[in-house]
Order: sequence, then structure tokens, then C-alpha cells
Amino acid sequence: MNKVRHFRSLLDINKNEFIKLIERSIELKEESRKNISNNSLQNKTMAMIFKKNSTRTRVAFETAMVTMGGHAIFLSSDTTQITRGEDLADTAKVLSGMVDIIMIRTHDHDEVEELTKNSTVPIINGLTEKYHPCQLLADMQTYYEERGSIEGKTIAWIGDGCNMCNSYINAAKILNFKLKIATPSGFEPDSKTLSLAKDNVELCDLPGQAVEDCDLVTTDVWTSMGDENESEKRKHLFKGYQINQSLFDKAKSDAIFLHCLPAHRGEEVDAEVIDGSRSRVWQQAHNRLFTSKALIEFLLNESK
Ligand code: CP
Ligand code: NVA
Repeated sequence: MNKVRHFRSLLDINKNEFIKLIERSIELKEESRKNISNNSLQNKTMAMIFKKNSTRTRVAFETAMVTMGGHAIFLSSDTTQITRGEDLADTAKVLSGMVDIIMIRTHDHDEVEELTKNSTVPIINGLTEKYHPCQLLADMQTYYEERGSIEGKTIAWIGDGCNMCNSYINAAKILNFKLKIATPSGFEPDSKTLSLAKDNVELCDLPGQAVEDCDLVTTDVWTSMGDENESEKRKHLFKGYQINQSLFDKAKSDAIFLHCLPAHRGEEVDAEVIDGSRSRVWQQAHNRLFTSKALIEFLLNESK
């Protein structure tokens, strides 16, 4: 057996694998459009541990498993022994003897590492406070579908230096695009993540500088899951970081807008942009299904 492959962050895949995953996602989307059945996950089971809410991630992974002939088990941390204190290491040892692949969405990124150390099957990070790598697969698929290769292009990240921003930094390094980031002071992305991508990332003082001449403009909520007690403070501090039409107009005239969703219109983005003609957020959200399929297939094949 090969070494078990995990997807803790984008740093677990190389450029070639990233591009192959995007291409495979596009292929699987086309298969689905043509109603070509694919039972390659027959008898495969995925356990999905959720310690935080989700709409897209849960539905994408569950639908991916079911429509490829497999099965997904939704494990809310509230109704499992996890909340009653069972170690994640013990949970990993038990689950990996029963299922073929495990996805976890949790707060502390170290929990993903802990699961990985104790699992004999692939672990997927379905979001932690540090990274959201699954979302980047869908974002990059969307860009490739719309504009082709992202290598050498310029992307603007506006707002919180959160898990999504950190994953954009990883993607910039791997796929070799330029990422211009504008965050309010004190909300910069993870410094270690930044230090690995120095040549690809520029921190800008103002959102307008970041958006200027960009090919893609993106953002995320001002208050991520787990930061709710700072919500009011953040609304005040992030004023001026909203992607509205006048800011978006500073980007290239064919630039697209992406948002991982859920969105808060009137906060990080206004309705004119997210519901406008250059927004691709629904396509991006739907691509979560095809990238989930491609990722499961990749990790299982690579771990054989
Ligand atoms: N973008 C994303 O991960 O959405 P959910 O929180 O709904 O899964
Ligand atoms: N940064 C957001 C992403 C949600 C998909 C959060 O962590 O809540």
C-alpha cells in the first residue's frame, strides 16, 4: 500500500496534482451534465465530522459519495461521543477501521493533524480556523472554467485574513499567481503561511490598491465561525473593506467576483456586485460538488 494521502491543507498537493484535480472536476461536471453514471465509490463510506455549521460542504460531500455509489455518514459532534470527551485520536482509530475516508470541519487546525496521525484512511479538512482547502479547489475550477489558467494572473483578497485568505495564499504559491491582500490592521493572514509564499503575495494598505488591475476579486464574511463575539467590533473596523461597485470597477473590466458563501450583502459585499453580471458565486458553489468528487477519488486512488 502507498502512503495514505491526506488533505489537511493545499500544501498536501503539488502543482501538477492541483491542476489534475481541477481538470478532473471539470470532467466529472461534464459527466454529470450528460447523466453518465459513475459508481466508482461503490461500497465506499465516508464519515463526516462537523463541529461547525455547514450547508455547501455537507451537501457536496454527501452528494458526491451517494451519486458515485457510496455512502456518507453525517456525524454532528453534539450527538457523538466527541462532545462527551472521547479523544480524537481514539475516534480516528475507531472510524478508520470502519470507513474508507474521513472529513472533519472543526475549529482548531491541530485536531485535523491529530486525526491524521491516528488514521489509517485519508483525512479531509472540511474547514478549520486556519484553512479551507476544499473551497479553493472549487474557486480555482471556477476561474479555469471562466478564464483558463490562473498562473501569472492577479487576484485581490479584501477583508479578513481568515481561513479562506490563508488558503488563497497557499494556492498562490502552488499555482503561481499574484495575490494582493488588503485587511484592516490586526486582521492580517497567518504569518507562517505568508512566509511560505513571499514571492506571490503583496500586503496592500488600501482595498483600492489591492483591487487595481486584478483578474479576480474575492472576499469572505467579516466574522467567521468562532469569532461571533467580535461581530459588532468587526462591522465597525471593516467598514471601507466592502466590495461595492466602485471598488470592483478598479479591477480589470473582465474581472470576475467570487465569494465562498455564505455572504452578508451590505457587509463584505454589496448586492450590486454579488448579484451582478461578473459574479460567479453560484457556479463556484456548485463546483463544490465536482471538486469533492474529484478529491475523494484522488485520495482513495493515491492511498491504494
Ligand atoms: N463555503 C462553504 O464551505 O460553505 P458551508 O459553510 O455552507 O459548507
Ligand atoms: N471564513 C468562513 C468561511 C465559511 C465557509 C468561516 O470560517 O466561517
